[in-house]
Amino acid sequence: MILSKRYRILRQSAAIRSMVRETRLHPTQLIAPLFVIEGKDVREPIPSMPGYFRLSLDELMKEVKELWSEGVKCVLLFAKVPDELKDNTGKEALNPDGLMQRAIRSIKHNLPEICVMTDVALDPYSSYGHDGIVENGEIVNDRTVEVLAEMSVSHAEAGADFVAPSDMMDGRIGAIRQALEAHGFHKTGIMAYSAKYASCLYGPFRDALDSAPGFGDKKTYQMDYANSREAIKEVLQDVEEGADIVMVKPAVAYLDIIHAVKQQVQVPVSAYHVSGEYAMIKAAAQMGWLDEDKAILEILTGIRRAGADLIATYFAKQAARLLQEVA
Ligand code: PBG
Repeated sequence: MILSKRYRILRQSAAIRSMVRETRLHPTQLIAPLFVIEGKDVREPIPSMPGYFRLSLDELMKEVKELWSEGVKCVLLFAKVPDELKDNTGKEALNPDGLMQRAIRSIKHNLPEICVMTDVALDPYSSYGHDGIVENGEIVNDRTVEVLAEMSVSHAEAGADFVAPSDMMDGRIGAIRQALEAHGFHKTGIMAYSAKYASCLYGPFRDALDSAPGFGDKKTYQMDYANSREAIKEVLQDVEEGADIVMVKPAVAYLDIIHAVKQQVQVPVSAYHVSGEYAMIKAAAQMGWLDEDKAILEILTGIRRAGADLIATYFAKQAARLLQEVA
């Protein structure tokens, strides 16, 4: 045969394939979510997230140092709050000596170079397991936003580099930015969960934090998974209000959203490869049905190819290690 084009030329060796690879995955693009718990020497397994743990502050520090040594530059903190501290106002979220605030201080004290991001939302602190204050069975917007702004200032005071509001209330990015400015925190960033969908894939995370909604679901604030134009509105609004980084969540079933968002904004786009996405890979690998390492690299690279600059993933450490082997 005489062919004018032989596309297999560029696929014939590992060297050539690596030269023409369009998308790269690097440890600096990964954000490691971490679950913090009270106590000492505690490394509590999370049954629906095999290989993942709730960590007491001492264990947290070990984990953070390991991540750093693997080249991961950023952690995203979530606190598991004991039931007796939960209420309907998020009071504990503002405690300057709360678990989250202590975790931030401890990391910034021991490893100041690492970027610390913190979850800002009321669900881990809420007796109702909702992301906002509940009144007459409804999650109220504006009162919640006031608390989220105070919470963000509290995290900034403790040393957070970025606050990451994951609640999906209207107007919270603007309110948080103003509160940070008013308190002199001109270097604190906001990574906004801008297009966050009401997803069943958060199940294992809610086990990890014991934060499942006590009534109803989150569909009055998180987005309908059937919608994409709404994601663009949300993202543009958050950028307008002062978001430094915008996020799409979950990731794999929302690659079209990541792609569309990337076309629309100039700020970095992150994607959250969520707990259920982690659990699916782990479960299949445990059954011997998938090669876990290969699945991780393929899926995370796919999320990057769709347009994500950054990926929050429970596979951050493992992926960073795998990438060193590949390099
Ligand atoms: C809550 C929050 C959730 C996640 C991050 N922040 C769960 C939810 O909205 O119910 C999910 C993360 C994951 O599943 O990995 N504010």
